[in-house]
Amino acid sequence: MKPFCLAPMAGINSTAFRLLCKENGADIIYTQMYDVNLLCTKTKEEVKKLLNIKKEEHPVVIQLIGSNLKKFRQTIPLVEGLAEEININVGCIEKRYLEHDCGAALLKDPEELGYLVKRIVACTKKPISVKIRIGWDGQSLNAVKVCNILEDNGVKKIIIHGRTAMQKYAGKSNWTIMKQVKEKSSIPIIANGDVKSYQDGLDLLERTGCDEVMVGREAKYAPWIFSNKQLTKDDIIKQILRYIELYETYENRCSVSEVYDQVFRMTRDIETTINKRDVKECASIAEIKQFISGLNS
Ligand SMILES: Cc1cc2nc3c(=O)[nH]c(=O)nc-3n(C[C@H](O)[C@H](O)[C@H](O)COP(=O)(O)O)c2cc1C
Repeated sequence: MKPFCLAPMAGINSTAFRLLCKENGADIIYTQMYDVNLLCTKTKEEVKKLLNIKKEEHPVVIQLIGSNLKKFRQTIPLVEGLAEEININVGCIEKRYLEHDCGAALLKDPEELGYLVKRIVACTKKPISVKIRIGWDGQSLNAVKVCNILEDNGVKKIIIHGRTAMQKYAGKSNWTIMKQVKEKSSIPIIANGDVKSYQDGLDLLERTGCDEVMVGREAKYAPWIFSNKQLTKDDIIKQILRYIELYETYENRCSVSEVYDQVFRMTRDIETTINKRDVKECASIAEIKQFISGLNS
């Protein structure tokens, strides 16, 4: 099994981006989170179009966020045919979700979370996994307890982002708690947080004993992190042009700003005297391609 997978990232994990990560060696691809309150109002065809998962991406995990069992029950039949696994987001810290007891808010009451998850597990044959943080805050580091409850309630895999909800993205990801969770669990545990290179990922696996590593933010800038290759400037330009090709071939929308935002991120490691931010002045995808090709001079 390849040990690196792509983290769910809202606003980032487009079809083209997911495919590029896959081409670079990502093992399992996670979609961004989808709100069950939104999906449950759609038809199967509408959901299929929205998620736009291509056969080359599999195995794929669809991530759902919510706290209302009825909405999960309505949504799961719409998505279960599209992926190998369904993941529940118990780590999101966005205010609008916390206010509705979704995402990381569910960590505050592990028994209630277990009750919800048990019923979600019962409504599908697809494996259910859960992505958590290590606790709500520094006074409630309850990841071990939460994971034991999740396992007892039929969850097949757990991903841990090594920060509390209150930490948001500050401080360092806590690898010690991941190790404790792994030691106390008999299901696969995926470690997540602060992997900035392939070597970091291998270190994380070794230090925690976890089964796989999940990479988020670094993949936004360097989707080739999954390949363990050192890229030259020329290689990076080829990757960017490949991303654009995938976007034009597979995406079912055409947003110039979506393309230049992703392209700009991927220019991070290119040294040039050209102002890379100017890519955001491009008015079409053709102009973006021309701009990127110009970075080679
Ligand atoms: C732009 C962005 C969007 C994210 N969206 C999601 C999401 O939809 N679902 C989720 O579980 N986590 C989401 N996350 C959190 C990541 O999946 C990951 O847990 C976090 O970034 C830590 O990993 P990293 O240090 O490798 O980035 C998001 C993170 C970022 C930066």
